[in-house]
Amino acid sequence: MPYRLTVLGTGYLGATHAACMAELGFEVLGLDVDQSKIERLQRGELPIHEPGLQELLRRNLDSGRLRFTTSFEEAAKFGDVHFICVGTPQKKGGYAADVSYLDAVVESLAPHLDRECLVVGKSTVPVGTAERLADKLVRLSPAGMQAELAWNPEFLREGFAVQDTLRPDRIVLGVASERAEKVLRDVYAPLGEVPIVVTDFPTAELVKAAANAFLATKISFINAMAEVCEAAGGDVTQLSQALSYDERIGGKYLNAGLGFGGGCLPKDIRAFTARADELGAHQALAFLREVDEINLRRRSRTVELTRELLSGAFDGRSVAVLGAAFKPNSDDIRDSPALDVAVQIAEQGGQVTVYDPAALSNARAAHPHLGYAESALEAAQGAEVVLLLTEWQEFVTLDPEELGAVVTARTIVDGRNALDADSWREAGWDYRALGRP
Ligand code: UDX
Repeated sequence: MPYRLTVLGTGYLGATHAACMAELGFEVLGLDVDQSKIERLQRGELPIHEPGLQELLRRNLDSGRLRFTTSFEEAAKFGDVHFICVGTPQKKGGYAADVSYLDAVVESLAPHLDRECLVVGKSTVPVGTAERLADKLVRLSPAGMQAELAWNPEFLREGFAVQDTLRPDRIVLGVASERAEKVLRDVYAPLGEVPIVVTDFPTAELVKAAANAFLATKISFINAMAEVCEAAGGDVTQLSQALSYDERIGGKYLNAGLGFGGGCLPKDIRAFTARADELGAHQALAFLREVDEINLRRRSRTVELTRELLSGAFDGRSVAVLGAAFKPNSDDIRDSPALDVAVQIAEQGGQVTVYDPAALSNARAAHPHLGYAESALEAAQGAEVVLLLTEWQEFVTLDPEELGAVVTARTIVDGRNALDADSWREAGWDYRALGRP
Protein backbone atom coordinates (compact mmCIF):
# COMPACT_ATOMS: atom_id res chain seq x y z
CA MET A 1 0.00 0.00 0.00
CA PRO A 2 1.59 3.30 -1.04
CA TYR A 3 -0.03 5.67 1.47
CA ARG A 4 -0.09 5.70 5.24
CA LEU A 5 -3.32 7.12 6.63
CA THR A 6 -4.26 8.93 9.80
CA VAL A 7 -7.79 9.42 11.11
CA LEU A 8 -8.17 12.46 13.34
CA GLY A 9 -11.13 12.10 15.71
CA THR A 10 -12.31 8.63 16.75
CA GLY A 11 -16.05 9.04 17.33
CA TYR A 12 -18.73 7.13 15.38
CA LEU A 13 -17.30 8.29 12.07
CA GLY A 14 -13.58 8.21 12.84
CA ALA A 15 -13.47 4.86 14.66
CA THR A 16 -15.34 3.27 11.76
CA HIS A 17 -13.23 4.93 9.08
CA ALA A 18 -9.96 3.97 10.80
CA ALA A 19 -10.91 0.30 11.22
CA CYS A 20 -12.33 0.03 7.70
CA MET A 21 -9.30 1.62 6.04
CA ALA A 22 -7.04 -0.80 7.94
CA GLU A 23 -9.32 -3.63 6.79
CA LEU A 24 -8.69 -2.49 3.21
CA GLY A 25 -4.97 -3.05 3.83
CA PHE A 26 -3.70 0.43 4.72
CA GLU A 27 -1.50 1.22 7.69
CA VAL A 28 -3.68 3.51 9.80
CA LEU A 29 -2.98 5.67 12.85
CA GLY A 30 -6.08 6.92 14.68
CA LEU A 31 -5.82 10.05 16.82
CA ASP A 32 -8.03 11.57 19.47
CA VAL A 33 -7.45 14.23 22.12
CA ASP A 34 -9.33 12.04 24.62
CA GLN A 35 -6.59 9.95 26.24
CA SER A 36 -8.95 7.43 27.88
CA LYS A 37 -10.77 6.81 24.59
CA ILE A 38 -7.45 6.14 22.86
CA GLU A 39 -6.39 3.73 25.61
CA ARG A 40 -9.64 1.82 25.25
CA LEU A 41 -9.39 1.68 21.46
CA GLN A 42 -5.76 0.52 21.68
CA ARG A 43 -6.97 -2.32 23.96
CA GLY A 44 -9.57 -3.24 21.34
CA GLU A 45 -12.52 -1.87 23.31
CA LEU A 46 -15.03 0.01 21.21
CA PRO A 47 -16.62 2.92 23.11
CA ILE A 48 -19.77 2.75 20.93
CA HIS A 49 -22.31 0.12 19.89
CA GLU A 50 -21.86 -0.49 16.18
CA PRO A 51 -22.57 -3.93 14.67
CA GLY A 52 -19.45 -5.58 13.19
CA LEU A 53 -17.03 -2.83 14.21
CA GLN A 54 -15.62 -4.51 17.32
CA GLU A 55 -14.38 -7.50 15.29
CA LEU A 56 -12.85 -5.22 12.67
CA LEU A 57 -11.09 -3.16 15.32
CA ARG A 58 -9.61 -6.23 17.05
CA ARG A 59 -8.57 -7.92 13.82
CA ASN A 60 -6.70 -4.86 12.56
CA LEU A 61 -5.07 -4.10 15.91
CA ASP A 62 -3.83 -7.71 15.96
CA SER A 63 -2.49 -7.43 12.41
CA GLY A 64 -0.54 -4.32 13.44
CA ARG A 65 -2.09 -2.25 10.65
CA LEU A 66 -4.10 -0.13 13.09
CA ARG A 67 -2.73 1.88 15.99
CA PHE A 68 -3.86 4.86 18.05
CA THR A 69 -2.19 7.95 19.47
CA THR A 70 -2.89 11.32 21.04
CA SER A 71 0.16 12.97 19.43
CA PHE A 72 -0.37 15.27 16.45
CA GLU A 73 3.38 15.29 15.91
CA GLU A 74 3.39 11.51 15.53
CA ALA A 75 0.36 11.66 13.22
CA ALA A 76 2.01 14.31 11.03
CA LYS A 77 5.19 12.26 10.72
CA PHE A 78 3.31 9.04 10.01
CA GLY A 79 0.65 10.05 7.52
CA ASP A 80 0.55 10.78 3.81
CA VAL A 81 -3.22 11.26 3.93
CA HIS A 82 -4.93 12.68 7.03
CA PHE A 83 -8.70 12.22 7.38
CA ILE A 84 -10.44 14.68 9.67
CA CYS A 85 -13.45 13.00 11.30
CA VAL A 86 -14.33 15.27 14.22
CA GLY A 87 -17.88 16.31 15.11
CA THR A 88 -19.62 19.55 14.16
CA PRO A 89 -22.37 19.80 16.80
CA GLN A 90 -25.11 22.42 16.96
CA LYS A 91 -23.88 25.64 18.54
CA LYS A 92 -25.22 26.28 22.01
CA GLY A 93 -28.02 28.83 21.84
CA GLY A 94 -28.16 28.84 18.02
CA TYR A 95 -28.88 26.78 14.91
CA ALA A 96 -25.47 27.02 13.23
CA ALA A 97 -22.84 24.27 13.38
CA ASP A 98 -19.93 24.60 15.77
CA VAL A 99 -16.85 23.95 13.61
CA SER A 100 -14.30 24.72 16.33
CA TYR A 101 -13.13 21.08 16.57
CA LEU A 102 -12.17 21.20 12.89
CA ASP A 103 -10.20 24.39 13.34
CA ALA A 104 -8.51 22.89 16.39
CA VAL A 105 -7.41 19.80 14.43
CA VAL A 106 -5.95 21.89 11.60
CA GLU A 107 -4.22 24.20 14.08
CA SER A 108 -2.73 21.23 15.98
CA LEU A 109 -1.68 19.21 12.93
CA ALA A 110 -0.48 21.85 10.46
CA PRO A 111 2.61 23.10 12.37
CA HIS A 112 4.03 19.52 12.18
CA LEU A 113 3.43 19.01 8.45
CA ASP A 114 6.81 19.36 6.78
CA ARG A 115 6.34 17.26 3.67
CA GLU A 116 3.85 16.61 0.87
CA CYS A 117 0.53 15.34 2.22
CA LEU A 118 -3.24 15.53 1.74
CA VAL A 119 -5.60 16.56 4.54
CA VAL A 120 -9.13 15.31 3.86
CA GLY A 121 -12.19 16.66 5.64
CA LYS A 122 -15.01 14.14 6.14
CA SER A 123 -17.08 16.01 8.73
CA THR A 124 -20.40 17.64 7.80
CA VAL A 125 -19.75 21.38 7.56
CA PRO A 126 -21.36 24.68 6.56
CA VAL A 127 -20.51 25.42 2.92
CA GLY A 128 -17.41 27.61 2.74
CA THR A 129 -15.58 25.84 5.59
CA ALA A 130 -13.27 23.83 3.31
CA GLU A 131 -11.96 26.89 1.52
CA ARG A 132 -11.30 28.63 4.82
CA LEU A 133 -9.50 25.59 6.26
CA ALA A 134 -7.47 25.11 3.07
CA ASP A 135 -6.04 28.62 3.50
CA LYS A 136 -5.37 28.04 7.16
CA LEU A 137 -3.59 24.75 6.41
CA VAL A 138 -1.20 26.31 3.89
CA ARG A 139 -0.59 29.25 6.19
CA LEU A 140 0.27 27.15 9.26
CA SER A 141 2.21 24.28 7.60
CA PRO A 142 5.97 24.37 7.16
CA ALA A 143 5.21 22.36 3.98
CA GLY A 144 3.20 25.30 2.63
CA MET A 145 1.40 24.46 -0.64
CA GLN A 146 2.62 20.84 -0.34
CA ALA A 147 0.03 20.36 2.42
CA GLU A 148 -3.22 20.34 0.49
CA LEU A 149 -6.84 20.08 1.60
CA ALA A 150 -9.64 18.04 0.01
CA TRP A 151 -13.28 17.51 1.03
CA ASN A 152 -14.77 14.02 1.03
CA PRO A 153 -18.12 13.93 2.86
CA GLU A 154 -19.18 10.76 4.62
CA PHE A 155 -22.70 9.35 4.25
CA LEU A 156 -22.61 6.42 6.67
CA ARG A 157 -25.58 5.54 8.83
CA GLU A 158 -25.11 4.47 12.42
CA GLY A 159 -25.99 0.83 12.83
CA PHE A 160 -24.76 0.17 9.27
CA ALA A 161 -21.50 2.11 9.53
CA VAL A 162 -19.14 -0.72 8.50
CA GLN A 163 -21.29 -1.79 5.59
CA ASP A 164 -21.76 1.81 4.41
CA THR A 165 -18.00 2.49 4.59
CA LEU A 166 -16.88 -0.68 2.82
CA ARG A 167 -19.73 -0.63 0.28
CA PRO A 168 -20.65 3.06 -0.19
CA ASP A 169 -23.25 3.95 -2.80
CA ARG A 170 -21.12 6.87 -3.97
CA ILE A 171 -17.93 8.75 -3.20
CA VAL A 172 -17.81 12.54 -3.47
CA LEU A 173 -14.43 14.20 -3.88
CA GLY A 174 -14.16 17.96 -3.49
CA VAL A 175 -10.66 18.69 -4.77
CA ALA A 176 -8.55 21.63 -5.86
CA SER A 177 -5.99 19.70 -7.91
CA GLU A 178 -5.49 16.59 -10.02
CA ARG A 179 -2.99 15.36 -7.48
CA ALA A 180 -5.60 15.39 -4.71
CA GLU A 181 -8.06 13.55 -6.95
CA LYS A 182 -5.48 10.89 -7.81
CA VAL A 183 -4.50 10.31 -4.18
CA LEU A 184 -8.13 9.85 -3.14
CA ARG A 185 -8.94 7.62 -6.11
CA ASP A 186 -5.96 5.44 -5.09
CA VAL A 187 -7.09 5.34 -1.47
CA TYR A 188 -10.62 4.21 -2.41
CA ALA A 189 -9.52 1.88 -5.26
CA PRO A 190 -9.72 -1.24 -3.01
CA LEU A 191 -13.51 -0.62 -2.69
CA GLY A 192 -13.95 -1.64 -6.34
CA GLU A 193 -16.63 -0.18 -8.59
CA VAL A 194 -18.21 2.79 -6.81
CA PRO A 195 -19.61 5.87 -8.59
CA ILE A 196 -17.26 8.78 -7.91
CA VAL A 197 -18.33 12.41 -8.30
CA VAL A 198 -15.36 14.76 -8.54
CA THR A 199 -16.22 18.35 -7.82
CA ASP A 200 -15.20 21.59 -6.10
CA PHE A 201 -15.21 22.33 -2.36
CA PRO A 202 -18.61 24.06 -2.07
CA THR A 203 -20.43 21.40 -4.08
CA ALA A 204 -18.86 18.58 -2.05
CA GLU A 205 -19.89 20.28 1.19
CA LEU A 206 -23.39 20.94 -0.13
CA VAL A 207 -23.97 17.34 -1.31
CA LYS A 208 -23.89 16.16 2.29
CA ALA A 209 -26.16 18.93 3.57
CA ALA A 210 -28.58 18.34 0.68
CA ALA A 211 -28.66 14.56 1.20
CA ASN A 212 -29.55 14.91 4.88
CA ALA A 213 -32.08 17.66 4.10
CA PHE A 214 -33.76 15.39 1.56
CA LEU A 215 -33.96 12.44 3.96
CA ALA A 216 -35.32 14.62 6.77
CA THR A 217 -37.88 16.13 4.39
CA LYS A 218 -39.04 12.70 3.25
CA ILE A 219 -39.57 11.58 6.86
CA SER A 220 -41.39 14.80 7.76
CA PHE A 221 -43.48 14.54 4.61
CA ILE A 222 -44.89 11.19 5.67
CA ASN A 223 -45.30 12.45 9.24
CA ALA A 224 -47.26 15.44 7.92
CA MET A 225 -49.47 12.92 6.11
CA ALA A 226 -49.82 11.12 9.46
CA GLU A 227 -51.16 14.34 11.00
CA VAL A 228 -53.71 14.63 8.19
CA CYS A 229 -54.61 10.95 8.59
CA GLU A 230 -55.22 11.55 12.30
CA ALA A 231 -57.56 14.43 11.44
CA ALA A 232 -59.34 12.58 8.65
CA GLY A 233 -59.47 9.03 10.00
CA GLY A 234 -56.98 7.61 7.47
CA ASP A 235 -54.17 5.08 7.98
CA VAL A 236 -50.71 6.45 7.21
CA THR A 237 -49.08 3.02 7.09
CA GLN A 238 -51.34 1.97 4.21
CA LEU A 239 -50.92 5.36 2.58
CA SER A 240 -47.13 5.00 2.81
CA GLN A 241 -47.28 1.47 1.41
CA ALA A 242 -49.34 2.64 -1.55
CA LEU A 243 -46.92 5.53 -2.22
CA SER A 244 -43.90 3.23 -2.01
CA TYR A 245 -44.93 1.24 -5.10
CA ASP A 246 -44.37 4.38 -7.18
CA GLU A 247 -40.70 4.01 -8.13
CA ARG A 248 -40.36 7.77 -8.34
CA ILE A 249 -41.19 7.98 -4.64
CA GLY A 250 -39.85 4.70 -3.21
CA GLY A 251 -40.51 3.27 0.24
CA LYS A 252 -37.28 4.13 2.06
CA TYR A 253 -37.44 6.88 4.71
CA LEU A 254 -41.21 6.78 4.40
CA ASN A 255 -41.99 5.21 7.78
CA ALA A 256 -44.28 7.45 9.76
CA GLY A 257 -43.87 7.59 13.52
CA LEU A 258 -41.97 9.52 16.14
CA GLY A 259 -39.69 11.05 13.53
CA PHE A 260 -35.98 11.57 13.17
CA GLY A 261 -33.33 12.21 15.79
CA GLY A 262 -29.65 11.45 16.24
CA GLY A 263 -26.46 13.41 15.94
CA CYS A 264 -26.95 14.26 12.27
CA LEU A 265 -30.33 14.93 10.65
CA PRO A 266 -31.76 17.40 13.21
CA LYS A 267 -28.62 19.50 13.65
CA ASP A 268 -27.64 19.27 9.99
CA ILE A 269 -30.92 20.72 8.69
CA ARG A 270 -30.69 23.50 11.27
CA ALA A 271 -27.08 24.29 10.35
CA PHE A 272 -28.06 24.25 6.66
CA THR A 273 -30.80 26.86 7.18
CA ALA A 274 -28.47 28.97 9.33
CA ARG A 275 -25.82 28.91 6.60
CA ALA A 276 -28.37 29.73 3.87
CA ASP A 277 -29.44 32.74 5.97
CA GLU A 278 -25.84 33.92 6.15
CA LEU A 279 -25.50 33.53 2.39
CA GLY A 280 -28.67 35.55 1.74
CA ALA A 281 -30.50 32.43 0.47
CA HIS A 282 -32.96 32.47 3.38
CA GLN A 283 -36.08 31.69 1.31
CA ALA A 284 -34.54 28.68 -0.42
CA LEU A 285 -34.44 26.63 2.77
CA ALA A 286 -37.35 28.14 4.70
CA PHE A 287 -39.20 24.83 4.21
CA LEU A 288 -36.59 23.03 6.34
CA ARG A 289 -37.83 24.94 9.39
CA GLU A 290 -41.24 23.40 8.73
CA VAL A 291 -39.58 19.97 8.34
CA ASP A 292 -38.05 20.47 11.79
CA GLU A 293 -41.38 21.63 13.28
CA ILE A 294 -43.33 18.67 11.86
CA ASN A 295 -40.69 16.38 13.30
CA LEU A 296 -40.82 17.89 16.78
CA ARG A 297 -44.66 17.92 16.75
CA ARG A 298 -44.64 14.10 16.55
CA ARG A 299 -42.94 14.02 19.94
CA SER A 300 -45.48 16.32 21.57
CA ARG A 301 -48.32 14.39 19.89
CA THR A 302 -46.98 11.18 21.47
CA VAL A 303 -46.91 12.83 24.89
CA GLU A 304 -50.46 14.14 24.38
CA LEU A 305 -51.79 10.79 23.20
CA THR A 306 -50.28 9.11 26.27
CA ARG A 307 -51.86 11.72 28.54
CA GLU A 308 -55.26 11.14 26.90
CA LEU A 309 -54.89 7.40 27.50
CA LEU A 310 -54.26 8.13 31.19
CA SER A 311 -57.46 10.18 31.36
CA GLY A 312 -55.76 13.56 31.16
CA ALA A 313 -52.99 13.58 33.78
CA PHE A 314 -49.61 11.97 34.36
CA ASP A 315 -49.38 12.57 38.13
CA GLY A 316 -47.70 9.50 39.58
CA ARG A 317 -48.94 7.27 36.75
CA SER A 318 -46.66 4.44 35.71
CA VAL A 319 -45.35 4.66 32.13
CA ALA A 320 -43.01 2.09 30.52
CA VAL A 321 -40.79 3.43 27.75
CA LEU A 322 -39.26 0.87 25.40
CA GLY A 323 -36.30 2.46 23.63
CA ALA A 324 -33.81 5.20 24.46
CA ALA A 325 -31.51 5.17 21.42
CA PHE A 326 -32.49 7.47 18.56
CA LYS A 327 -32.87 4.39 16.38
CA PRO A 328 -32.41 0.62 16.72
CA ASN A 329 -28.93 -1.02 16.59
CA SER A 330 -27.31 2.05 18.11
CA ASP A 331 -26.48 3.27 21.61
CA ASP A 332 -26.57 6.89 20.44
CA ILE A 333 -29.00 9.05 22.42
CA ARG A 334 -28.17 12.40 20.80
CA ASP A 335 -31.47 14.18 20.15
CA SER A 336 -33.28 10.89 20.72
CA PRO A 337 -37.04 11.23 20.13
CA ALA A 338 -37.64 8.35 22.57
CA LEU A 339 -35.78 10.00 25.44
CA ASP A 340 -37.31 13.37 24.65
CA VAL A 341 -40.78 11.87 25.10
CA ALA A 342 -39.69 10.05 28.28
CA VAL A 343 -38.29 13.28 29.76
CA GLN A 344 -41.39 15.32 28.85
CA ILE A 345 -43.67 12.76 30.53
CA ALA A 346 -41.46 12.63 33.64
CA GLU A 347 -41.42 16.43 33.82
CA GLN A 348 -45.23 16.37 33.78
CA GLY A 349 -45.33 14.03 36.77
CA GLY A 350 -45.30 10.56 35.17
CA GLN A 351 -43.36 7.68 36.77
CA VAL A 352 -41.28 6.69 33.76
CA THR A 353 -39.25 3.48 33.49
CA VAL A 354 -37.01 3.18 30.44
CA TYR A 355 -35.43 0.09 28.91
CA ASP A 356 -33.14 -0.09 25.89
CA PRO A 357 -30.95 -3.01 24.76
CA ALA A 358 -27.82 -0.85 24.15
CA ALA A 359 -28.34 2.76 25.21
CA LEU A 360 -29.15 2.35 28.93
CA SER A 361 -25.85 3.57 30.32
CA ASN A 362 -25.80 6.59 28.01
CA ALA A 363 -29.41 7.37 28.93
CA ARG A 364 -28.71 6.96 32.66
CA ALA A 365 -25.74 9.31 32.50
CA ALA A 366 -27.69 11.99 30.61
CA HIS A 367 -31.00 11.66 32.50
CA PRO A 368 -30.30 10.23 35.96
CA HIS A 369 -33.74 11.27 37.24
CA LEU A 370 -35.62 8.80 34.98
CA GLY A 371 -36.34 5.24 36.13
CA TYR A 372 -34.50 2.43 34.36
CA ALA A 373 -34.99 -1.32 33.99
CA GLU A 374 -32.85 -4.18 32.71
CA SER A 375 -35.46 -5.71 30.40
CA ALA A 376 -38.67 -4.83 28.58
CA LEU A 377 -40.69 -6.97 30.98
CA GLU A 378 -39.11 -5.31 34.02
CA ALA A 379 -39.82 -1.84 32.59
CA ALA A 380 -43.45 -2.81 31.96
CA GLN A 381 -43.98 -4.25 35.45
CA GLY A 382 -47.10 -2.51 36.81
CA ALA A 383 -47.22 -0.01 33.91
CA GLU A 384 -50.51 1.66 33.06
CA VAL A 385 -49.31 2.37 29.55
CA VAL A 386 -46.41 1.03 27.47
CA LEU A 387 -44.73 3.23 24.85
CA LEU A 388 -42.70 1.62 22.08
CA LEU A 389 -40.44 4.48 20.95
CA THR A 390 -37.41 2.81 19.29
CA GLU A 391 -38.15 -0.19 17.10
CA TRP A 392 -35.49 -2.65 18.31
CA GLN A 393 -36.15 -6.15 16.93
CA GLU A 394 -36.64 -7.50 20.48
CA PHE A 395 -39.55 -5.06 20.95
CA VAL A 396 -41.11 -5.81 17.57
CA THR A 397 -41.20 -9.51 18.47
CA LEU A 398 -42.58 -9.01 22.00
CA ASP A 399 -45.36 -11.41 22.90
CA PRO A 400 -48.53 -9.42 23.71
CA GLU A 401 -49.62 -12.09 26.22
CA GLU A 402 -46.30 -12.17 28.06
CA LEU A 403 -46.19 -8.37 28.29
CA GLY A 404 -49.89 -8.29 29.16
CA ALA A 405 -49.23 -10.50 32.20
CA VAL A 406 -47.01 -7.88 33.90
CA VAL A 407 -48.79 -4.57 33.16
CA THR A 408 -51.72 -3.17 35.13
CA ALA A 409 -53.48 -1.98 31.95
CA ARG A 410 -53.10 -3.41 28.46
CA THR A 411 -52.54 -0.07 26.74
CA ILE A 412 -49.74 0.44 24.23
CA VAL A 413 -48.63 3.35 22.06
CA ASP A 414 -46.65 2.15 19.05
CA GLY A 415 -44.56 5.24 18.31
CA ARG A 416 -42.84 3.60 15.35
CA ASN A 417 -45.72 1.78 13.64
CA ALA A 418 -43.65 -1.33 14.17
CA LEU A 419 -46.15 -3.77 15.74
CA ASP A 420 -48.89 -5.87 14.18
CA ALA A 421 -51.97 -3.97 15.42
CA ASP A 422 -54.35 -6.92 14.92
CA SER A 423 -52.44 -9.38 17.07
CA TRP A 424 -52.10 -6.86 19.91
CA ARG A 425 -55.80 -5.99 19.76
CA GLU A 426 -56.72 -9.68 19.65
CA ALA A 427 -54.73 -10.09 22.88
CA GLY A 428 -56.93 -7.47 24.51
CA TRP A 429 -54.63 -4.49 24.20
CA ASP A 430 -55.81 -0.96 23.54
CA TYR A 431 -53.37 -0.48 20.66
CA ARG A 432 -52.68 3.11 19.56
CA ALA A 433 -50.27 4.42 16.96
CA LEU A 434 -49.39 7.66 15.22
CA GLY A 435 -51.32 8.42 12.03
CA ARG A 436 -53.64 5.44 12.33
CA PRO A 437 -57.17 4.94 13.59
C1 UDX B 1 -28.16 9.90 8.77
C2 UDX B 1 -28.04 9.67 7.26
O1 UDX B 1 -28.86 8.56 6.88
C3 UDX B 1 -26.60 9.38 6.87
O2 UDX B 1 -26.48 9.26 5.45
C4 UDX B 1 -25.73 10.52 7.37
O3 UDX B 1 -24.36 10.24 7.08
C5 UDX B 1 -25.91 10.75 8.85
O4 UDX B 1 -27.29 10.96 9.15
P1 UDX B 1 -28.18 8.32 10.93
O5 UDX B 1 -28.17 9.56 11.77
O6 UDX B 1 -27.29 7.18 11.32
O7 UDX B 1 -27.78 8.69 9.41
O8 UDX B 1 -29.69 7.83 10.96
P2 UDX B 1 -30.78 7.30 9.91
O9 UDX B 1 -30.71 5.84 9.79
O10 UDX B 1 -30.76 8.09 8.65
O11 UDX B 1 -32.09 7.65 10.74
C6 UDX B 1 -32.33 8.97 11.21
C7 UDX B 1 -33.58 9.06 12.02
O12 UDX B 1 -34.72 9.00 11.17
C8 UDX B 1 -33.79 7.98 13.07
O13 UDX B 1 -34.22 8.61 14.27
C9 UDX B 1 -34.87 7.11 12.48
O14 UDX B 1 -35.62 6.49 13.47
C10 UDX B 1 -35.68 8.12 11.69
N1 UDX B 1 -36.43 7.56 10.56
C11 UDX B 1 -35.77 6.98 9.52
C12 UDX B 1 -37.81 7.67 10.54
O15 UDX B 1 -38.42 8.22 11.47
N2 UDX B 1 -38.50 7.17 9.47
C13 UDX B 1 -37.88 6.59 8.42
O16 UDX B 1 -38.57 6.17 7.49
C14 UDX B 1 -36.46 6.47 8.44
